[in-house]
Amino acid sequence: MIPDARRANYESLLRDARATLAGIDDPIAVMATLACLIYRAVPGTSFAGFYRVVAPRLLRIGPYQGPLGCLEISFDRGVCGAAARDARPQLVADVHAFPGHIACDEGARSELVVPVFDGAGTLVAILDLDSHALANFNDDDRDGLERLVAAFAGAFAVAESSAGL
Ligand code: SME
Repeated sequence: MIPDARRANYESLLRDARATLAGIDDPIAVMATLACLIYRAVPGTSFAGFYRVVAPRLLRIGPYQGPLGCLEISFDRGVCGAAARDARPQLVADVHAFPGHIACDEGARSELVVPVFDGAGTLVAILDLDSHALANFNDDDRDGLERLVAAFAGAFAVAESSAGL
């Protein structure tokens, strides 16, 4: 997709998400709906979903679309772990070149992971996109998805099992 079209795609995705989720502040409903909208809107995406922070340094699968994801990922492991550990996006053009990449799906070749924060700025989840194509995602995807999850920060809260940590 050409750069302008890619950026326009995220503007339209954000509009759709805001319209669909108007008045909804349930974090699971928001994550499930965003995963569905992202999976359909971002070309080349094989997996789109959330891993929630459920304990110190532990991610557990949340709402997603695509093939089976790993159930739990420690902050010490993989691309998702790196994004959670540093609370920064990870844009990986070739997952085989990423030390410690976790191959939940043998066909995955590139990946984009963005951290998800609640309204107070606490990391509550990460959003993971995988593709079977090399270098499927770029900076525009990263920016678009960061903006998208930031728009729903008010609906996200720390998972119950980790509340008070
Ligand atoms: N590849 C990821 C694991 C998550 S799945 O691919 C759904 C990683 O290395 O963190």
